[in-house]
Amino acid sequence: MEIRNLTPVIGAEITGVDVRTLDDAGFSKIEELWLQRCLIVVRDQHLTPAELCAFGRRFGELEPPPASEARRRDEEAAEMWIISNVVENGKPIGALGSGEAEWHTDMSYIPSPPSASVLYGREVVTDGGRTWFGNMMAALESMPPDLRERLEGRTINHDASYTSAGDLRKGMQAVTNVTAAPGARHPVIRPHSVTAREALFTGRRTNSWVVGMDVAESEKLLDEIWAWCTRDEFLHVHEWRPNDLLVWDNRSTIHRREAFDASARRVMWRCQVRDVA
Ligand SMILES: [Fe+2]
Repeated sequence: MEIRNLTPVIGAEITGVDVRTLDDAGFSKIEELWLQRCLIVVRDQHLTPAELCAFGRRFGELEPPPASEARRRDEEAAEMWIISNVVENGKPIGALGSGEAEWHTDMSYIPSPPSASVLYGREVVTDGGRTWFGNMMAALESMPPDLRERLEGRTINHDASYTSAGDLRKGMQAVTNVTAAPGARHPVIRPHSVTAREALFTGRRTNSWVVGMDVAESEKLLDEIWAWCTRDEFLHVHEWRPNDLLVWDNRSTIHRREAFDASARRVMWRCQVRDVA
């Protein structure tokens, strides 16, 4: 197994390994890297849906896809779903289309968001479609004290109404008042469920609300937080190669996807792991 850090603060690339035949010691090394580096990029994996889920399960119990994404029924891999812009017989085969997906944490709008998100590139695009990641432990650690002080003890309401691609989820109403948006509330400074290391936990910018604050004041504070946590020094951009297997720690990272040419094919397989908390 060869390991290379992708930037000083986030990401480790792993080559020379087949995750299907990884022994316990090998997996422990990968798990440790995932916790420390927030994101692991395992190159050149050749997996079936069941093998993808089996690897995901080594991180913990798999969580079912969001209700809106139950587009694939595979008996051996019921927890897997597809992220894709491909349309077959007039129907999209997966979620999120080809537009930009804004900065977010996966499913932060539920009470216990996933610990690990697993994304496997089956068919990738090289013009756009890159995925950006940010280390929110690093963002918190180096945050200016006056900003951090204003966040201490605060919670954010994480809106559940829209996907990260900006689409209104089935059965949801458009949000006209962020203080009434459905979703979950989490501390802005949130300890990691395994390492206890604190991270900035922001979810996504759209329709967020700092609970208890006047909306204008909340918007201003959220803008400041987002301007800080998306600084280049905390980020890494992943340029996809076919058969890349990515696992990020959803408790300590944010991510976003760039838009890409709608006529190009991009097909990713996805599963996620339930948090221990
Ligand atoms: Fe995501």
